[in-house]
Amino acid sequence: MFAPTAQPAILVLGGTGKVGSRIVRQLLSSPSHSDYTILVASRNGSSDSSNLQQQHNNGARVQHVPFDWHNPDTWRNPFSLSTTTSTTTPAGISAIYLIAPPSLDADVLMTKFIDFARERGGVRRFVLQSASSIEAGGPAMGKVHAYLEGLGREGEVEWAVLKPTWFQQNFVDQPVHLKAIKEESAIYSATGEGKIPWVSADDIAAVAVQALTNPSPPNTDYMVLGPELLSYGEIAEILTEVLGRRIVHVDLSAAELEKRHQSFGMPEDYAKMISAMDLSIRAGAENRTSDVVLRVTGERPRKFRDLAESVNEVWEPSGRV
Ligand SMILES: NC(=O)c1ccc[n+]([C@@H]2O[C@H](COP(=O)([O-])OP(=O)(O)OC[C@H]3O[C@@H](n4cnc5c(N)ncnc54)[C@H](OP(=O)(O)O)[C@@H]3O)[C@@H](O)[C@H]2O)c1
Repeated sequence: MFAPTAQPAILVLGGTGKVGSRIVRQLLSSPSHSDYTILVASRNGSSDSSNLQQQHNNGARVQHVPFDWHNPDTWRNPFSLSTTTSTTTPAGISAIYLIAPPSLDADVLMTKFIDFARERGGVRRFVLQSASSIEAGGPAMGKVHAYLEGLGREGEVEWAVLKPTWFQQNFVDQPVHLKAIKEESAIYSATGEGKIPWVSADDIAAVAVQALTNPSPPNTDYMVLGPELLSYGEIAEILTEVLGRRIVHVDLSAAELEKRHQSFGMPEDYAKMISAMDLSIRAGAENRTSDVVLRVTGERPRKFRDLAESVNEVWEPSGRV
């Protein structure tokens, strides 16, 4: 399927999403990563990779790989790269970034895929995107976290788990927020006055790039948080100032929020889980900051206001969702 390569490859699952696409762009634009082939895996988006290759020309190569967590026949696609017969010896996939699909059985699929990648591709390093609220051994990605930690203890893998809090880019990229800001000048949550250390997807990606490429294996988890604690009401105030029109926060019950998520196509059980997370935020569960972004990347984490000012036109009422 793919041309043979002697370059080590990094496989980014969910490589077209908020964090995955930024990992790909950061790897492509950094001269120190020019010896990598970057495999961008997702169900859709093959043309994006050709565009990226044209925009960045630092020597690194990028290829899209069709991959669907729910179709195990596609799991072998990234490894076709290493089975191509050639006079060059393919270096194979050195590390994989794992982003879960939005389903509650994600852990079953992901642990099976980790084993598949180790057996089929000899992959050693796995970097998992989990979430700040999920402990090792907890639901969904928490089980994958515990699995990697266990394999790491046995010396079977090198690993890292990123535990980001809620992304600043949700207001830009998630239809559930984007549509409400554009059409109703509103943002909805069930968080009350609860605060969140909103983190930039650029900063999560920067931590991920370090974890994927650092010669020393991280073998740890990182609580990836932004620089300031803001409630949804305070996010609405910043948007009001940046956009020059009043944006309000509408505080819903968890049941109302669940229905709202479902109306945007989210599966019922997943919508229930996401809405329940808002109640934890309301109770103060996200009320914390960390120095992880500065410590791992050497850069201060970005503020929500800077993102809002840089992309303000996406929220113009006249634009299209
Ligand atoms: N958003 C947040 O605030 C936040 C905070 C903490 C943790 N997280 C976690 O981060 C993860 C990703 O969330 P996100 O908001 O970043 O998502 P996102 O930006 O929508 O990205 C999801 C990516 O996964 C791919 N994908 C979706 N379903 C897939 C499937 N069945 N098979 C293969 N690829 C699939 C998508 O591409 P295709 O659709 O083309 O396949 C896309 O590249 C989730 O596990 C979430 O719990 C999110």
